[in-house]
Amino acid sequence: MCLKTMINVALPKGRLGEKVYDMFEKSGYECPSIKEVNRKLIFENEEAGVRYFWVKPSDVAIYVERGAADIGVAGKDILLEYAPDVYELLDMNLGKCRMAVAAKKDFRDNTENTLRVATKFPNIAKDYYSKKGRDIDIIKLNGSIEIAPILNLSDVIVDIVETGKTLLENDLEPKETIVPISARLIANKSSFKFKMEQIENIKNSLKAQVKTDD
Ligand code: PRP
Repeated sequence: MCLKTMINVALPKGRLGEKVYDMFEKSGYECPSIKEVNRKLIFENEEAGVRYFWVKPSDVAIYVERGAADIGVAGKDILLEYAPDVYELLDMNLGKCRMAVAAKKDFRDNTENTLRVATKFPNIAKDYYSKKGRDIDIIKLNGSIEIAPILNLSDVIVDIVETGKTLLENDLEPKETIVPISARLIANKSSFKFKMEQIENIKNSLKAQVKTDD
């Protein structure tokens, strides 16, 4: 009896993850049980050779880096922030947004003062401002970043902007774009060596499903 090699896939739980799973399904890696309404987090289709895990989006790269998952889909924001030791195989062109600096509309930077930057992404912010030679003080927050400049906790924020609605509704505006963000297919380095054929097949099937911008 020949046992099929299973590929363990970490999917980001949530709306993005559902779109990502749809792409896997259309690529021939369906797992119908994943659509059942329950709280299970692991689903497999032995015939198709895939086992899916729903994990917190910011944890996908950890599962993949440590080999608990062979492949996964993570946002470029997470890959830039944590620089996990993984291969980035494909831009899925999903979950598109940008990392931006935002502030109150009337904010003017006074370079004589240290700039107070509130963010969930301290490494991205530090890297951006160090390239500009600007002194900053990082205020690491875990969410609702937009409140920081309103309460004068910070001068600016470095955060994800998708539609821009959250900024607008909190009287902030984007000032500078740091980097465009989208979801990426990533692979564990040793899995890529030992399960190369299966991973390459998945990558190529997904690639054929990637929607280009019109
Ligand atoms: C992200 C980000 C902004 C919002 C931007 O938050 O931190 O708050 O989305 O989206 P918009 O430009 O379409 O308004 P998320 O929903 O991930 O929640 P969080 O703040 O808890 O991380």
